[in-house]
Amino acid sequence: MTQSPPRIGGQDVESWGDPEDPIVLLLGRPQALFGDWRRAVRALVEAGRHVLIAAAFDTSDDASGELRRLLTDLPSRPALICAQASLPAVIPALQVTGAALASCLVISTAEAAVQPPFDPAALDLPVQIVTRQDGADPAEAENALVLGFLERCAPREALHYHAGSDPRTLRDALGCFATGVTVVTTLDEAGRPVGLTANSFSSVSLDPPLILFCLSRSSANVERFRQAAHFAINVLHIGQQPMSGVFAGAGDRFQDVAWETWDTGAPILSGALASFECATDQIVEAGDHLVFIGRVTRARFEPRRDPLLYFRGKYRRLHFS
Ligand SMILES: Cc1cc2nc3c(=O)[nH]c(=O)nc-3n(C[C@H](O)[C@H](O)[C@H](O)COP(=O)(O)O)c2cc1C
Repeated sequence: MTQSPPRIGGQDVESWGDPEDPIVLLLGRPQALFGDWRRAVRALVEAGRHVLIAAAFDTSDDASGELRRLLTDLPSRPALICAQASLPAVIPALQVTGAALASCLVISTAEAAVQPPFDPAALDLPVQIVTRQDGADPAEAENALVLGFLERCAPREALHYHAGSDPRTLRDALGCFATGVTVVTTLDEAGRPVGLTANSFSSVSLDPPLILFCLSRSSANVERFRQAAHFAINVLHIGQQPMSGVFAGAGDRFQDVAWETWDTGAPILSGALASFECATDQIVEAGDHLVFIGRVTRARFEPRRDPLLYFRGKYRRLHFS
């Protein structure tokens, strides 16, 4: 067990255990968090956790900002343990991008319940409330609760996919690659606009200028994209999350959307972060998807707005500390 006082995110932080292990960040004086804090920290370290204690963390004016700085400066997303007195600072810090900053949150309270009642759904990450336990060894029972929750929500071991194992695990592994979000469009034979949300967009080549996207064979629009000689890729900005939902859902997707055409007729969504008009160059059959490679004939982009992001099955926004 090591002990040193590094400064992270402007806070003095006490460090216990192996820095290579996944981080558990204790916010505030550990005496306020556990019935027997030394035993709890030892149990965490023995369970393969790197424990950081920000003992001076308080709930003063800019505590939320300080917490965000602290979380952003850590080398990996920690599991967070705080007392209920810290919640007024913790909740705003974790709202919106919480899951990007911490893997899970344990709220430790000496009371029978968190007061005022706290709705864990307010945060986009797993939350466990741990109240003081009864019985012969309450500290042991408390530690078991915390360790069990951490194993479930912030597992130490990396997860594995092997050929033949369940596609859900592969999907989760692929979801670790953060992407932007696009709406891919074309015109059908009758000249009606067609489009769907796709995050499988990638640049391919600068010379010649090629890009690609992958279309599921189960898409109702496969034949329309196959038949069309052109398509467009519209990259969405952070304000266009509702549009992403519309183009992945049922109903008339173009009803409330402003669009224009350039040279080929493929719909260019007004106000997109970037649009690429393409001539279909190749269609490659690839398992349950078709890879559409397009030669870019025209592009437009907006240099100031932030992109809409997609990561681990959720929409995200850029976060700068
Ligand atoms: C963020 C996001 C990304 C998606 N990416 C793709 C994609 O790359 N390729 C694809 O075929 N479907 C993708 N989809 C799913 C389609 O948008 C969705 O299945 C749509 O309903 C298909 O419509 P269609 O059957 O009318 O073509 C994505 C959906 C979302 C929400």
